[in-house]
Amino acid sequence: MAFLQLIDLKTYFPVRTGVLGRASGDWVKAVDGVNLSIEKGEILGLVGESGCGKSSLSRTVMQLVPASSGEVLLEGEDLCQLAKSEVRRRRLDFQMIFQDPYASLNPRMTVYSTLAEAIRQRHPSCRGAQLETRITELMKRCGLDPRFMKKYPHEFSGGQRQRIAIARALAPEPKLVIADEPVSALDVSIQSQILNLLLKLRDELGLTMIFITHDLSVVRYLADNIAVMNKGKIVEYGEAEAIFNSPQQPYTQKLLSAIPRLSCADSV
Ligand SMILES: Nc1ncnc2c1ncn2[C@@H]1O[C@H](COP(=O)(O)OP(=O)(O)O)[C@@H](O)[C@H]1O
Ligand SMILES: [Mg+2]
Repeated sequence: MAFLQLIDLKTYFPVRTGVLGRASGDWVKAVDGVNLSIEKGEILGLVGESGCGKSSLSRTVMQLVPASSGEVLLEGEDLCQLAKSEVRRRRLDFQMIFQDPYASLNPRMTVYSTLAEAIRQRHPSCRGAQLETRITELMKRCGLDPRFMKKYPHEFSGGQRQRIAIARALAPEPKLVIADEPVSALDVSIQSQILNLLLKLRDELGLTMIFITHDLSVVRYLADNIAVMNKGKIVEYGEAEAIFNSPQQPYTQKLLSAIPRLSCADSV
């Protein structure tokens, strides 16, 4: 059985018009019949241009927006059929990392409070020395110096903030992590550090991950498999190297040709 399986998943949003925002009867087909399957410990790269439906797909998997139809099977159980209270409980099992850690972290909370809150979602009675040990371990695991646990997000660099966001996502011990454009706002040199961190975490924790990006080059060495999305549909799917070496669809070829190539800089 696949760890996560999406079956004919559709997410349609009503198109609203006029100042009153009346439903026009038309639909934006943000996710339009997606079938995908992810094994435990796999990193799936979900790639496509802005507006193709990547975030809508991830939000539907997380049950943050309702599916219009189809199934989201997590270890065989259809999340779309769960009661709201059950979804809230199960949401600890899947966590998200976003593009802008500054917007997703609470500026008034120290790293300690941010991670403590996230750890207590899973272990409500964890406190004192035990809590501090867990926070220390999490920070180290994510490449952060635990001496800075009482600092605030603005006291860190962009790359370090993304590490805090990653530590927070890991704190409730999720089974699935969805990273939505997690390196798109970072400098190229910092990007590779964060990608290496995610790879390390996958290996250490056996995490299953959906890595969303508009930039195909980012997932080349990270993803096991790549799904290329266009207008709500998966237009190409395969092993990462196969997608890079012999893309079958014109849309994938177009995404590949948009990647800047190094020429003489290669040999420097
Ligand atoms: N809550 C919403 N209501 C209406 N339309 C939406 C909503 N969320 C996304 N969309 C539309 O769905 C399409 C896909 O958007 P999105 O999933 O954000 O794409 P991506 O993440 O690939 O950039 C876009 O046309 C967007 O405008
Ligand atoms: Mg998006």
